[in-house]
Amino acid sequence: MTVLVTGAAGFIGYHVSAFLLERGETVVGLDAVTDYYDVGLKEARVGRLERRDRFTMLRLDLADRDAVFAALAGVGGIDRVVHLAAQAGVRHSRDRPFAYVDANLVGHMTVLEYCRHLPGLKHLVYASSSSVYGANAKLPFAVEDRTDTPISLYAATKRANEHMSYCYSHLYGIPQTGLRFFTVYGPWGRPDMALFKFTAAILDGRPIEVFNDGDMKRDFTYVDDVVPGVVAALDSPPDNANGAPHRLYNIGNNRPEPLMRLIAILEDNLGTKAKIDFRPMQPGDVKETYADISASRRDLGFAPATPIDIGVPRFVDWFRGYHGVDTRAGRWRARQDSNLRPRD
Ligand SMILES: NC(=O)c1ccc[n+]([C@@H]2O[C@H](COP(=O)([O-])OP(=O)(O)OC[C@H]3O[C@@H](n4cnc5c(N)ncnc54)[C@H](O)[C@@H]3O)[C@@H](O)[C@H]2O)c1
Repeated sequence: MTVLVTGAAGFIGYHVSAFLLERGETVVGLDAVTDYYDVGLKEARVGRLERRDRFTMLRLDLADRDAVFAALAGVGGIDRVVHLAAQAGVRHSRDRPFAYVDANLVGHMTVLEYCRHLPGLKHLVYASSSSVYGANAKLPFAVEDRTDTPISLYAATKRANEHMSYCYSHLYGIPQTGLRFFTVYGPWGRPDMALFKFTAAILDGRPIEVFNDGDMKRDFTYVDDVVPGVVAALDSPPDNANGAPHRLYNIGNNRPEPLMRLIAILEDNLGTKAKIDFRPMQPGDVKETYADISASRRDLGFAPATPIDIGVPRFVDWFRGYHGVDTRAGRWRARQDSNLRPRD
């Protein structure tokens, strides 16, 4: 199979592309390589993919539909699409709302229109988010739960993507699966996410900002558990049973962990105590996420197996290797220290 992976320079897109290449598939990566966070990290991911046979990279902005359609018209054989490109991040969506409209709404539309006109398309798998559960109080979050209370623009764009996709499945019979990811972490992870930011700050001796006075839980999901779930979804397009070949799944660990436990594991692995700057809850954040994965387990064989006690040390090992950290001296050399913080 030949798979178009959007967001291939990103965290999850990099891992999904590597997994597909390892399995013998042909992968066409597409990414605008935006500077939302360290472009050097994105280029390092792309560099590793480009060393493999059967990988080509297209540097394109999905919001520029004419350029995307023109470039993809010259690429034959694509029969599956994994659409992961997006402007991610909940807090950033208050500062740069139009980045979310362009990448997530216009970009998703570009992918849908491309797929609508792609002969031989077998399946489009796209990224949604646990944030669509918004202000829901019922836990764990199940795909049947109502999702009409988004509390960030990011969440609203992700829920809109699900509606747009359902509509295109209904109208044009495009087989689609939306995956609601829950706080994915691991090697090659995102510098704007808590685990990466905490690790960098603790090694630097800088305080870490912990919101809601640390009273938060997240269903931290290890990337090597996520990727087989994405590919299992890709391998089994939905049928047309409900009037549209479209379905949604949660991809989470099914095991919410207190944020303070994550920090304790990190401190143990770094051999240093964190200086904690407790802050109030941030607008747009939710207190707890917890995935009901009974449907993804049943239909996709999705089976997350990595608790944070195992996943966090693996992330720390990667972080040390990537940045050349000498933790015994309690010091580290970041290749691009100033880029570890997302632009805002
Ligand atoms: N990582 C998580 O915990 C998590 C949780 C929920 C949902 N998601 C979703 O999963 C997907 C992948 O997330 P990630 O963590 O790998 O994020 P990421 O930011 O590392 O990757 C997204 C990639 O999309 C690219 N991109 C952004 N705008 C683009 C555009 N207009 N055109 C082309 N490329 C563009 C970026 O350059 C980036 O490389 C996203 O859709 C995200 O919203 C991730």
